[in-house]
Amino acid sequence: MRLEKCLNFHDFRRLAKKRLPGPIFNYIDGAADDEVTYRRNTTAFDNCDLVPNILRGVTDVDLSVTVMGQKLAMPVYCSPTALQRLFHHHGERAVAGAAAKFGTMFGVSSLGTISLEEARRISTTPQIYQFYFHKDRDLNREMMTRAKTAGVEVMMLTVDSITGGNRERDKRTGFSIPFKLNFAGITQFAIRPAWAVNYLTHEPFKLPQLDGHVDMGRGTMSISRYFTDMLDPSMSWDDVAQMVEEWDGQFCLKGVMSVEDAKRAVEIGCTGIVLSNHGGRQLDGSRTAFEQLTEVVDAIGDRIDVLMDGGVQRGSHVLKALSLGAKAVGVGRYYLFPLAAAGQAGVERALELMRTELERDMKLMGCTSIDQLSRDNLRFR
Ligand SMILES: Cc1cc2nc3c(=O)[nH]c(=O)nc-3n(C[C@H](O)[C@H](O)[C@H](O)COP(=O)(O)O)c2cc1C
Repeated sequence: MRLEKCLNFHDFRRLAKKRLPGPIFNYIDGAADDEVTYRRNTTAFDNCDLVPNILRGVTDVDLSVTVMGQKLAMPVYCSPTALQRLFHHHGERAVAGAAAKFGTMFGVSSLGTISLEEARRISTTPQIYQFYFHKDRDLNREMMTRAKTAGVEVMMLTVDSITGGNRERDKRTGFSIPFKLNFAGITQFAIRPAWAVNYLTHEPFKLPQLDGHVDMGRGTMSISRYFTDMLDPSMSWDDVAQMVEEWDGQFCLKGVMSVEDAKRAVEIGCTGIVLSNHGGRQLDGSRTAFEQLTEVVDAIGDRIDVLMDGGVQRGSHVLKALSLGAKAVGVGRYYLFPLAAAGQAGVERALELMRTELERDMKLMGCTSIDQLSRDNLRFR
């Protein structure tokens, strides 16, 4: 299959699977334990139906939204994800470039493979910096200062990864950074020579956010060891309140699920929260963000911006979340498979398809601006 023939998430996923060595494909595609939450993230959207209105004059549709003070041309943003250089040799540069073209936010990860400063230079649109709270407080302080100096608009602290999720696919393939593969893994690389040549002939793999703080030159580190060894499981509301104060700007928590925590986020001065279960990669059996939206929006939606991510594969999924009160919706694998399949051209095609679906579905719903979507447009079965 070629890029021009890709019409949806599943097509991109198939193409990515063909291009990537097995361990890398499975790192993206996999999730925790039995991957129940991962699957439910998408099927949860099928538990309700859109109820359209007609004859409202829908010639021009405005997809723009304002989230945490940032104006976005569409209500979908590229959620921060780790290690993009492994998926395509252009990595984060491709995603940041594509997001900028579509007027939306791009999140650079603490585990990003380009520096947050470089990402900031590429993005002409608002930028998120995704923060993991490390045991090394100097590293935390340095990251905040770097992000501030670079002009990052939104600080996003991930709070659902206090320890590593049980990713059994990665255990089986021996996935680690940089690679230390078991025999099955090496065979998988050998049968993807095009990927291997690109990987080896472009600049070396780096984690610039962690430079000087983690030495991976001599050894390898599994993703789960990064979470367990480097992140601070004692992180508390007091630590985060202090961060919010120090950041003194747009600050959101990614991975909030309960109403109680959402209220707490408001109290400590956050300007947004992202309902998320990390794409099913952390706590398997966790509820889906989509299912939690209603109660969280009812509790605090008038005080801070509620965003969500997880399982989004279609424009109609986004419209359902917006109808329940989400201010914007994040995507992960939706752009990662296209990145792996075809670099920036792939991500652009995926975002183009998303924008086209959103515009078409808005017209079919009888809406010309996002604020016209409401719960009247949705019925649960
Ligand atoms: C390969 C991969 C790497 C990820 N890395 C990070 C990360 O470094 N930081 C983070 O907060 N979330 C990370 N996430 C979670 C995403 O930001 C997002 O919450 C999730 O992918 C949404 O689910 P979806 O993939 O079904 O859209 C990652 C997700 C994937 C698939």
